[in-house]
Amino acid sequence: MKNPDLSVKIGKLKLKNPVMVASGTFGYAEEFSGLVGLHKLGAVVSKTITLKGRPGNTLPRTCETPAGMLNSIGLENPGINKFIKEKLPVLRRAKAPIIVSIASENDPQEFVVLANELEKIRDVAAIELNISCPNVKTQKSLISQDPEATFQVVKAVRKVSTKTLITKLSPNVTDITQIALAAQNAGSDAVSLINTLLGMSIDVKARKPKIASITAGLSGPAIRPIAVRMVWEAFQKIKIPIIGMGGIIDASSALEFFLAGASAVAVGTANFIDPKISNTIIEGIRSYLKENRVSHLEDIVGALKA
Ligand SMILES: Cc1cc2nc3c(=O)[nH]c(=O)nc-3n(C[C@H](O)[C@H](O)[C@H](O)COP(=O)(O)O)c2cc1C
Repeated sequence: MKNPDLSVKIGKLKLKNPVMVASGTFGYAEEFSGLVGLHKLGAVVSKTITLKGRPGNTLPRTCETPAGMLNSIGLENPGINKFIKEKLPVLRRAKAPIIVSIASENDPQEFVVLANELEKIRDVAAIELNISCPNVKTQKSLISQDPEATFQVVKAVRKVSTKTLITKLSPNVTDITQIALAAQNAGSDAVSLINTLLGMSIDVKARKPKIASITAGLSGPAIRPIAVRMVWEAFQKIKIPIIGMGGIIDASSALEFFLAGASAVAVGTANFIDPKISNTIIEGIRSYLKENRVSHLEDIVGALKA
């Protein structure tokens, strides 16, 4: 059998394969450039950028947990202007499509200002709206915990942006399908899910939280069954593509997401264990498709036999 077609379309964006690196787990690709065949990736998603720079949360802000990790980085980033001047040129060298993740700090209107800034930059292939970061203390609740707030933010950005828009959803909700529908109805080209699950870990000797901000986002294989379930639920209800993530560590775990209904996947925490893991996963998916005589990746999207 000849090489299977791994390409996918997300809005206007055509990816040569469906594997991207998840926001915040790959920096701006600079630390990885010598280690990873970046040009082989489907896309690179930047760490989330806000309008002004943020120092991030107080240390300690990461710790290991069974089959995963907690993080409360708190959207540390240099701010949009410095990002465009200093980080974007580095990202460009990756020679993979660049998806820029953005978030507001205090006012959802900041999403519009950020999207306007990025609109002028041709090689920003898509924007990911991070309305689901659990680690920003200025927010009482997440935009992605409210369908109406989600709709309003996506709609406002859609008005000013011609770029492919991806809305990143939080698993910290009762019904993910309501939020996914709100994003779709407001004009999002795709949704990505899941961001981290709110968790907490305690040092019993010290009787102190292991993370300074007490609660933090849980990621890694521990959350995969929840992520796969949410992708499957969203797939029943929405028509736009889903980018699935949460605990992907190998081709088999990526394939779970495709079968549940994801058109593409992102690899997060696993990058900290093996920075080359995404390249390995791409090859593993190719082998699976060949072995199973599937000529197009899209033929297995949502192909779960249930
Ligand atoms: C250290 C760390 C930092 C993260 N930073 C961001 C971020 O800046 N923006 C964002 O949308 N998601 C962020 N995430 C969430 C990941 O992109 C991803 O949605 C989540 O970790 C689930 O995937 P995984 O289990 O493969 O890590 C971060 C995750 C980790 C572990």
